[in-house]
Amino acid sequence: MPLSSLGSENWYSVIEYMTKITPEFEQTQQEKLLKESPANGQLVDLFSRSISYLRVSLTDQCNLRCIYCTPKEMGEKLPCGELLSYEELLRVIGLAVELGIRKVRLTGGEPLVRKNIVSFIRRLAAIPGLHDIRLTTNGVMLTKYAEDLYSAGIRKLNISLDTLKREKFIRITGADLFDQVWEGIKLVQRMGFSPVKLNMVAMRGINDDELVDFARLSLTHSLQVRFIEFMPIGDGTIWGEERYISADEIRERISVVGELTAMETACMDGPARIYRFKGTEQGRGSIGFISPISHKFCDRCNRLRLTSEGRLRSCLLSDKETDLKRILRVGGSDDDIKNALVQTILDKPKSHTLFEQEGFNCHGRMSRIGG
Ligand code: 5AD
Ligand code: SF4
Repeated sequence: MPLSSLGSENWYSVIEYMTKITPEFEQTQQEKLLKESPANGQLVDLFSRSISYLRVSLTDQCNLRCIYCTPKEMGEKLPCGELLSYEELLRVIGLAVELGIRKVRLTGGEPLVRKNIVSFIRRLAAIPGLHDIRLTTNGVMLTKYAEDLYSAGIRKLNISLDTLKREKFIRITGADLFDQVWEGIKLVQRMGFSPVKLNMVAMRGINDDELVDFARLSLTHSLQVRFIEFMPIGDGTIWGEERYISADEIRERISVVGELTAMETACMDGPARIYRFKGTEQGRGSIGFISPISHKFCDRCNRLRLTSEGRLRSCLLSDKETDLKRILRVGGSDDDIKNALVQTILDKPKSHTLFEQEGFNCHGRMSRIGG
């Protein structure tokens, strides 16, 4: 677009962008953040996004091998000492909460394969000011852990499920565990976990014949069925443009079930756009679309990530990381850790450039970064 045709609003953004991101500005902004964040309990980045949500990958290991996530061979397991210990995690999360983090999601790999996770969650729940702890799981171990998770204070679950068919589940995940996962899903609903969200990564030629079946689940169950656009991430992924299905296409294809009406979402609800089929009774489920590719939501992104190796990452799709583990293990002070958290937030890019780059890159292993 020629510059002369920029409207006044666009000019305002250009000028704001050019004036904001000077080294001096960054310096003062960092000092301001460091000074003000503990006092006003808010972490704000250079683009006025309030960062309140930390996603923590507890392990890169998993008991499944989903075709879109892990390479065929899982790769070397990280030696135990490479993962942050629970003590280290509690320290970092406690400091992040002091700075303004309000919501933590535990993820993986599969978080439930990490030993003694329940006692860790109990201690996490005791951090003052942290009232929102969520878990993303593949559901395989839910029948074993649901009671303990509930008593430790978890109520909000995201469960990855890409098919409702046993045979296809084997093809997608490499394991014959569909029935066990489905039992787990039924159990957590009976127990009163809420919300329970199902994450379905839509892949053309693999599970797109089930889009309508997934959509219908929201009529009969109090589940939020979330359709996720397939992203080109992960070393061994089967991603290809021909496999990608846009949220708009999914929406069109599930319209045979009924008309969707948008639901109001709280700002802590993240990037999903949430709908309900018209006429769905209260208490029944909803439909979510997560479309990182077709509808970038970077302007609303409120998250920070901690990888299983203890690296802070401000964007899923940018490889820039801060080595927090090193800071912890050379005896870093609380202020050093807070500094690293603030610095990472200051480095948070305005938006991802996945499709502006020459070709698509695979940005590390999803199981390590934590989805
Ligand atoms: N594209 C989209 N979603 C993915 N997930 C894992 N890999 C991909 C990918 N390449 C999803 C999982 C899980 C969530 C944390 O991320 O299904 O539900
Ligand atoms: Fe495991 Fe989740 Fe990756 Fe599947 S997507 S292999 S369940 S970490």
